[in-house]
Amino acid sequence: MITVRVPATSANLGPGFDTLGLALDLFLTVEAVSAPTTSCQFYGEGKHQLDSADNTNLILSGLNQVFQEAGETVPTLKLTVNNQIPIGKGLGSSAAAIIAGLFLGNHLLNQHFEPERMIKMAADQEGHADNAVPAIVGGLTTVMKYEEKIYYQQIKMPENITIIVAVPDFELPTYKSRQVLPETLTLAQSVANVQKACMLLAGIFNRDFRYMNKAMDDQIYQPYRKQFIPGFDEVLNSAGKAGALGVALSGAGPSIIAFAEEHPEMIGRSMAETLAEHNVSSQILYLKTNHTGVQID
Ligand code: HSE
Repeated sequence: MITVRVPATSANLGPGFDTLGLALDLFLTVEAVSAPTTSCQFYGEGKHQLDSADNTNLILSGLNQVFQEAGETVPTLKLTVNNQIPIGKGLGSSAAAIIAGLFLGNHLLNQHFEPERMIKMAADQEGHADNAVPAIVGGLTTVMKYEEKIYYQQIKMPENITIIVAVPDFELPTYKSRQVLPETLTLAQSVANVQKACMLLAGIFNRDFRYMNKAMDDQIYQPYRKQFIPGFDEVLNSAGKAGALGVALSGAGPSIIAFAEEHPEMIGRSMAETLAEHNVSSQILYLKTNHTGVQID
């Protein structure tokens, strides 16, 4: 039996749109054994969305892609999927599914493709690399696409940081959340986001969180996306008042992510209560950074 485990991820982290991403200790696990026909059995989050063995199943589409690119025939497999990652909530569930399929396939092909190529395949399927890279390599990553190649760096997220995620009870498809974004930015907006992204990374690198709340205050996409999350500004305010170091929309949303050194439960409670005041029920997750990325046994 082969087991593939892929972490959830939170992309953007405020100012790093399509750039920054953080791997979280919440996982999609796929067990694969050889079988006469291909089948997929799902347990956990999103069972109803995922319970199919056709190409809408992203695990199978990742698996098919890697075999197709290698010019080989896909073997028939019995897949058992255990998923902890909420689907359609801005926590990298689709990247995790694609990566599970790609890496399972590459393992079956005796590591036919180099890690660099695997990253490119995952990012191409997603359309951006900010979830795919941390899901593959773990930790906090910053990615750069340069002449069609993807480059990344990892920064160590301090162990004492707890990541609080408020997961609203509704889904927000990434395409819908991207449709509302502006086509162009002004120079002033671009400069502001470069400043914030650099400040965020330098603050984390130096373990100096004094300006994290300001650095995570994105003004290029959050203002357009917050229409989808009732009480978004109030949730950010309440988390800040409860002691969060910084707060932002997680990926394309609707989840909201907060970083804390202390009192995570107070922060989580205030986020849930504020969402509830806007008639949104939510689940609060208290997570740590995953440092391993995708793992195969
Ligand atoms: N950077 C992406 C976005 C992440 O914000 O649209 C979502 O997959």
